[in-house]
This record gives sequence, C-alpha cells and structure tokens, in this order.
Amino acid sequence: MTERFMTVQYRINGEDHIVAIEPDDLLLDIIRKQIGLTGTKYNCRQGECGACTIIMDGVPINSCLILAAVADGSEITTIEGLGRGGRPDVVQDAFIRHDGSQCGYCTPGMIMSARALLDANPSPDREEILEGLAGNLCRCTGYKHIIDAVEDAAQRLSK
Ligand code: FES
Ligand code: FES
Repeated sequence: MTERFMTVQYRINGEDHIVAIEPDDLLLDIIRKQIGLTGTKYNCRQGECGACTIIMDGVPINSCLILAAVADGSEITTIEGLGRGGRPDVVQDAFIRHDGSQCGYCTPGMIMSARALLDANPSPDREEILEGLAGNLCRCTGYKHIIDAVEDAAQRLSK
C-alpha cells in the first residue's frame, strides 16, 4: 500500500510547525484541526465567502482553496497572530469601537483582509476598502460599520 502522508513545514504567527498531511488536505483544515487555530472560520469551502481568509507570504488568501502541500514553507498569519502582548491589532480595535461585528462568523476573515489591505495600502479610500473586502461576505452588518472601522484603522495608522 502506498504511503499517503507527507511532512510540511509552516511558520505560523511567528512559530514553526512541522505537520504530517495527506496530499489532498486543505490548508484550512490543517490550520484548524492539526495546528488548533480555530479562529480561521469555514463556511462555503469554495472560495466565495472569505471566512477562511489568512495572510500567506504577505497576501490574503482563502485557505479553503489552497492545498496544505502547496503551502509548504510558507509564512502564515492567522487572526490569532494579530495584536501584540495581549493587545488587539489596530484593525481589531477599530472593529470593536465601530460595532463591525454582529454574529462574528465573518469577522476573522474580514479583519485579515483589512489588515492585508492596510499593509499594502495604508491610506485606502472607501472605494479601495470596498474593493479590498470584496471577497468577504457578511450576512449581518450591512457592511457600513465594517467599512467605517477599516477607514478609522487607516486613519489611526497614518498618525
Ligand atoms: S470557506 Fe473559504 S471562502 Fe468560504
Ligand atoms: S457579523 Fe455575522 S456574518 Fe458578518
């Protein structure tokens, strides 16, 4: 019988992880089930909702669309990796202050996309924020509070 397991290595939130995976495992499932970082959510598993967004090598991606094997050697940030010393990241803080979250299911993915947007473009206008979050769906908030939060985070980062 052929051995299906293979070993991969990721640097996640500043820590190295070596994990045994199967060739058809999704990165989303490895992050949640093997690494135990359940802040990254799953929903559609088809790249349509953005709940599973992480930052991989500086780029926001849907972790449900990436094979765990393809991500071997990557540097990954999940929602658990934002913030420092127990303090929330500026985007997380802005979401709290602007009520950018209701049920909260979309929130980790939304915040990761927003964080990646601000890393790439520290002063986005509202149109650019909408574009940056276009892959993240929210069924609760109507988006206004989310856009307000990201705009506020951008303003605070530029001070
Ligand atoms: S669960 Fe990955 S995009 Fe929806
Ligand atoms: S806050 Fe509920 S889906 Fe966005």
